Amino acid sequence: MLKTHRVLLLLSFFLLSACRSSEFNLDLEQQVEGATLLQFSKEGGFVLPPIPDSNPLTDGKAELGRHLFYDKRLSGNQTQSCESCHIQALAFTDGKALPQGSTGETLALNSQSLTNVAYNASYTWWNPILIRIEDQLFIPLTGDTPVELGINDGNLNTVLQRFRDDPSYQALFAAAFPNETDPYTLVNVAKALASFSRILISDRSAFDKGQLSDSAKRGQQLFFSESLECFHCHNGFNFSSSTVTINTRFPERVFFNNGLYNLNNNGSYPEDIQGKFKVTADWNDMGAFRPPTLRNIELTAPYMHDGSIATLEDVIDFYAAGGRNVTSGANQGDGRLNPYKSDFVNGFTLSAQEKTDLLNFLKSLTDYEFIADPRFANPFPAAEL
Ligand code: HEC
Ligand code: HEC
Repeated sequence: MLKTHRVLLLLSFFLLSACRSSEFNLDLEQQVEGATLLQFSKEGGFVLPPIPDSNPLTDGKAELGRHLFYDKRLSGNQTQSCESCHIQALAFTDGKALPQGSTGETLALNSQSLTNVAYNASYTWWNPILIRIEDQLFIPLTGDTPVELGINDGNLNTVLQRFRDDPSYQALFAAAFPNETDPYTLVNVAKALASFSRILISDRSAFDKGQLSDSAKRGQQLFFSESLECFHCHNGFNFSSSTVTINTRFPERVFFNNGLYNLNNNGSYPEDIQGKFKVTADWNDMGAFRPPTLRNIELTAPYMHDGSIATLEDVIDFYAAGGRNVTSGANQGDGRLNPYKSDFVNGFTLSAQEKTDLLNFLKSLTDYEFIADPRFANPFPAAEL
C-alpha cells in the first residue's frame, strides 16, 4: 500500500514547481520549429498541444526520449524500462490490472494509456495538480512508495554514467541538448521522455477516417445520447473532458466519481485510491478520477483506475447498472448508491443489438497505425534488451 505522507511531501514540491513554471508556450511557430516528429493529421486533425516554455519540443529530444523509454538501464537495477508498463501494441498500457515496479512492489493504480497524453489537462488518474508530464515523470523515475524504476540518491550517478559512457547516447544527448557540456542529468532525462510522450499522437482510427460501419454509427448515436450520457464526460476530439490544446486559456480539470465503490455506505473508496480526494481532502472529491480518453480503448483492458473491470462489455454493463454493487469482500458496498457519484451515471437499458453497436463505436476508435508506428517503436534490436 502507498504511504500517504511521502506522496503528500512530493505533492507540495510539485505545487511549488507548478506555480513557478505553469506557463505554457502559446507561440505556435516556436513550438513546431524543428519538431518534424510531431505529426498531426493533415485533414481536419488536432490542434497542437500545449508545450512548456522550459522544454520546447525538438526531434532530438523526442528521439533521445524514445531510446530512454525502451532502455532498462534507466532503472536502478536494470530490470525495467518505461515499456515494462507502457507497451506500444497495447496503446502503451500493460494488459495487467495492477503493475509491479522494478523491485517487485505492486502499484495501487492501473498503467495508463499514453495515447494523446500531451493533451491531458492533468496527469495520473487522480491528481489535479500534476499538470506537466515533466513533473509526473519523477514518480516512475524516483518514486519509492512504491518503487517503479527505482532511481535514488544512491544510484543516480551510476544510472546517468551508463548513458554518459555509451557512444550512441553521447550522440543522442548532444543532439537533444546541443548547448550543454554535461547534459546527463535527471531533469534532461525527464525532458526527453516528456518530449517522446508528447509525440504519441493517435488520430488515424476508423472514426478519424470517417469509416464507421452502420452498427458503429448507431453506437455513436447512443454514445452521444442523453440516455447514456457518455459524452458529458468523454467528449471533444480526445474523448475526455479534461483536455487542453494550445488554444485553451482556462483549462478545466474535471474529475468524476462513476460509482465503482461505496465502502461503509458513506461513499468511501478503498484506502489510498480515493481519487482527487487524496489531494483536496474534500469529500465531494471522494472517488473522483479524470475521465480517461476512450481512444484505443479496445486495446487497454483491464479498465478503470484499479483495473477492476475486465472487458469493455463489462464496462457497458457497469454503466447500464448505474454503478457497481460489490457484494462481498473488503470492498463491499453498493457503488450505485455512492453519494458522491456523478448525476450523469444513472443507468440505462440496452438491447443486445444496441450493446453491440456501442461496442463497435468504441472499437472504431482503435488506431492500428498508432500501435505499429515505427517512430514510437523500440529502437533497439531485439537481442540487445
Ligand atoms: C511499474 C509500472 C510503470 C513504469 C515502469 C512506468 N509507468 Fe507510467 N504509469 C504507470 C501507472 C500505474 C500510471 C498511473 C499512475 C497514477 O495514476 O498514479 C502511469 C502514468 C503515466 C503517465 C501519465 C499518463 C496520464 O494520462 O496522466 C505518463 C506520462 C507515464 N506514466 C509515462 C511513463 C514513462 C515515460 C515511464 C518511464 C520513465 C513510465 N511511465 C514508467 C505505470 C508505470
Ligand atoms: C460522470 C462522467 C462519466 C460518464 C457519464 C461516463 N464516464 Fe466513462 N469514465 C469516467 C471516469 C471518471 C472514468 C475513470 C473512473 C475510474 O477509473 O475510477 C471512466 C472510465 C471509463 C472507461 C475505462 C477507461 C480506462 O482507460 O480504463 C470506459 C471504457 C468508459 N469510461 C466508457 C464510458 C461509456 C461507454 C460511457 C457511457 C455509457 C461512459 N463511460 C460514461 C467518467 C464518465
